[in-house]
Amino acid sequence: MISFSVAFDPNKGIGNKNVMPWHIKEEFKVFRRNTMNKNIVMGQTTYDNLPGKLENRIITVVSIDPNYHPEGVEVTNDLIAFLKEHQFDETEYIICGGASIYRQAYPYAHKAYVSFIKKEYEVDTYFDVFEMSDWNILEQEEYDEFIYRELVRNVDLEDDEILLRHINRDDTQAIYNNWANDPEVSKYVMWDTHKSVEDTKAIMDIWMEQYHKGVIYRYGIVLKSNNELIGMIDVVKFIDGVPEIGYNLARKHWNKGYMTRALGLLCKRLFKDGFKEIIIKAIDENIGSNRVIQKNGFEFIGTRKIIHKDKEVTVNSYKKQLKEE
Ligand SMILES: NC(=O)c1ccc[n+]([C@@H]2O[C@H](COP(=O)([O-])OP(=O)(O)OC[C@H]3O[C@@H](n4cnc5c(N)ncnc54)[C@H](OP(=O)(O)O)[C@@H]3O)[C@@H](O)[C@H]2O)c1
Repeated sequence: MISFSVAFDPNKGIGNKNVMPWHIKEEFKVFRRNTMNKNIVMGQTTYDNLPGKLENRIITVVSIDPNYHPEGVEVTNDLIAFLKEHQFDETEYIICGGASIYRQAYPYAHKAYVSFIKKEYEVDTYFDVFEMSDWNILEQEEYDEFIYRELVRNVDLEDDEILLRHINRDDTQAIYNNWANDPEVSKYVMWDTHKSVEDTKAIMDIWMEQYHKGVIYRYGIVLKSNNELIGMIDVVKFIDGVPEIGYNLARKHWNKGYMTRALGLLCKRLFKDGFKEIIIKAIDENIGSNRVIQKNGFEFIGTRKIIHKDKEVTVNSYKKQLKEE
């Protein structure tokens, strides 16, 4: 996975005369915390002008000079090849500037650690390609001189009625109120009805940890008309590299076609990302769910009996292949 770490002022200014325009101790601490023991990547200009050594980080320096070999760092002479090679790695490579490296790496980045400096500074270098609308906020921390946000790439999955976006901790109460506390919603899925919002908070901790670790297909389903979070759809697991999808929808929104739309959007996304096949399973009695799957052109591949919540049930399996798109 490629991510980047950056601090910029209200004009997206990042540097002045080859150095950082500000000295904000708290911001250095945030940078240290985010990059400690990780792989970081920076341009030659930024590396040569570092105010001190960056201990306990594996550093790759980007340079066009084939004779440039500073001690203790890796060097790459081809940034784009490096980005292409590592963009879907489990290992995270954090791009740490400067301007030319940020600009080229931006389209490959799945996550971002951004300090929004509050005051304007004298700058001569900008992170001009950054657009907040490209990102969803995962975490936010307020400091005196800046706001720190951890961001995840906005996947831009929407149609005229619904939008799929990453969830975050601010969604916890809505998830609990809208479907996680409803035994009718949990009846046919693997998880048990949440007894209190504490159960939702516990699973949210796991989801956030998973988001932090890599490229995760888990989205909240939002009604565009009133911004209401009405459900969730995700890849629950990969079976031999084939994604299996699961979903939940608030009961008051059943039978309105929203899940059919959400499933269609996620399938499109997965095929676009290079998956050739998608699997989905539904308990036979769950007529609505089976219908959503069939409406999306999934092909029935078989059934299996399992014990689900102390009862024997029949599970239908379906698959959809890329050529059907
Ligand atoms: N605010 C922040 O968070 C932050 C973080 C880091 C840096 N900065 C600031 O950013 C400024 C430096 O930015 P910069 O753009 O001047 O320098 P830079 O990005 O740090 O380094 C540019 C170097 O990388 C080489 N390079 C660029 N693209 C390459 C590619 N595709 N393959 C191989 N080599 C490549 C360049 O070669 P060429 O010379 O041929 O172009 C040049 O040697 C400084 O002011 C610094 O303080 C700010």
